Amino acid sequence: MRTRLLTEYQTEIAAKIIRNGSLVAIPTETVYGLGGDAFNPTAVAKIFEAKNRPSFDPLIVHIADFEQIYTVAENVPPLAQKLIEKCWAGPLTIILKKKKEIPDLVSAGLDTVGIRMPNNEITREIIRKSQTAIAAPSANLFGHTSPTSAKAVLDDLDGRIDAVIDGGNCKVGLESTIISFAKNTPVCYRYGGLDLEYIESIIGKVERAGFHGEEDVAPGRSLRHYAPNTPLYLDKKESDFPEGTKIGYINQDGDLYEIAKNLYSEIRNVDDKNCDVILAHLVEEKGIGMAINDRLRRAATTQPT
Ligand code: TXA
Ligand code: MG
Repeated sequence: MRTRLLTEYQTEIAAKIIRNGSLVAIPTETVYGLGGDAFNPTAVAKIFEAKNRPSFDPLIVHIADFEQIYTVAENVPPLAQKLIEKCWAGPLTIILKKKKEIPDLVSAGLDTVGIRMPNNEITREIIRKSQTAIAAPSANLFGHTSPTSAKAVLDDLDGRIDAVIDGGNCKVGLESTIISFAKNTPVCYRYGGLDLEYIESIIGKVERAGFHGEEDVAPGRSLRHYAPNTPLYLDKKESDFPEGTKIGYINQDGDLYEIAKNLYSEIRNVDDKNCDVILAHLVEEKGIGMAINDRLRRAATTQPT
């Protein structure tokens, strides 16, 4: 298969590919997603196949406008509604009880579904024109670093998907924060582009689940994730390695937002330089720094998936 590189003005072509049950990588403010028709089980199966993704890892469904949520979710609890009003479109995924029309493959057999309205006009236009909701995991091979540019998508998926839309570099650079409203109290399953402190200022206390070192309660939260091929260390310095070791460094200059925005492209770039090891360091555990540290720890761990 030849993968077409489409411009941001070719949303009609992208929508047609989605309607036909094929796959298009789409830009969002967080990372690029690998999109397919969320209501078409064949299209959803193609997503898992293109990424080599295990089927126990559920997908996030992307919508263009708030009303569309009712095609995906059974209902929207008041607390979820409150958060959505403040934070959509944006780097926030919410987990709700799913409608039965959403194929089981999307939700990995769970009775819940992750839903997100991305803050990217190109992609929302594609969703509207395709007249469906779009299931989209990050557009990388499973376990690999998420892509924040069309080029990074092609590096992993060229020849495996129908098209990628070039929407430039992602502005946030880390995946969405995931909050579940499937139980009585809200639960955070993944730190991400939206500060948890800000979320708690809107809806009150949020439980944390499934993070590094804890039991893996969220499906698909395998420990080694977002990983480069070169071993990445967080707690080592140059003198810890034998002379002659080729060391690559992740550039972590700038404020936390800048570090987040550039993190994945930095990891990918250094990974391409044929170094023996990559060195990076944790940042302040605050705001988006919590998501940066989460991704760095997962990229650095050497435990098998
Ligand atoms: O920013 C993002 O969220 C990006 C862009 C493309 O929207 N998407 C993304 O998708 O990061 P993905 O597939 O790489 O990560 C989705 C994760 C799953 O691995 C799983 O941990 C969680 O979301 N998830 C999805 N549905 C869930 C559900 N029903 N219950 C619990 N966790 C769920
Ligand atoms: Mg991913």
